Amino acid sequence: MLCRALLALASAVLAGASACSNARPVSSSASGSAAPDGRRLYAASCAACHGADLKGTPTGPPFLDAIYRSDHHADEAFLVAARSGVRPHHWNFGPMPPVSGLTDQQVAAIVAYVRSQQQAAGIR
Ligand code: HEC
Repeated sequence: MLCRALLALASAVLAGASACSNARPVSSSASGSAAPDGRRLYAASCAACHGADLKGTPTGPPFLDAIYRSDHHADEAFLVAARSGVRPHHWNFGPMPPVSGLTDQQVAAIVAYVRSQQQAAGIR
């Protein structure tokens, strides 16, 4: 008898818990608490020159290149590049203009995405 009562109580609690989590907003990005999506930000802000596949375009170099390994271009280099642009020094694409409208957190998410793609390509 007690067992059945406990079971009923447990399932009531569980039902209550799932009702609560269902009640949360589907997307919390409006509140700014969602982690930035590096892949999406990269596609929107960087892919035009560095390539949707990170293999470069006629206007920018590939990130899947040993030159952009983290020991040669640390994560800060990405922040500086986005903030201030880049003077041409490794390639002949010309300068990279500053990319406006990205927070440090968003650039960090882009870097994490680039690093994951580099790792997948065997560039570490
Ligand atoms: C309009 C084209 C363009 C866009 C858009 C662009 N880049 Fe670049 N980027 C370049 C070019 C060209 C270079 C190569 C400069 C050189 O010769 O070393 C470069 C170089 C870089 C470098 C290397 C910097 C260094 O110190 O050597 C980083 C890091 C970088 N870009 C990050 C980004 C990120 C992150 C984004 C998106 C937020 C982005 N770029 C968007 C054109 C672009």
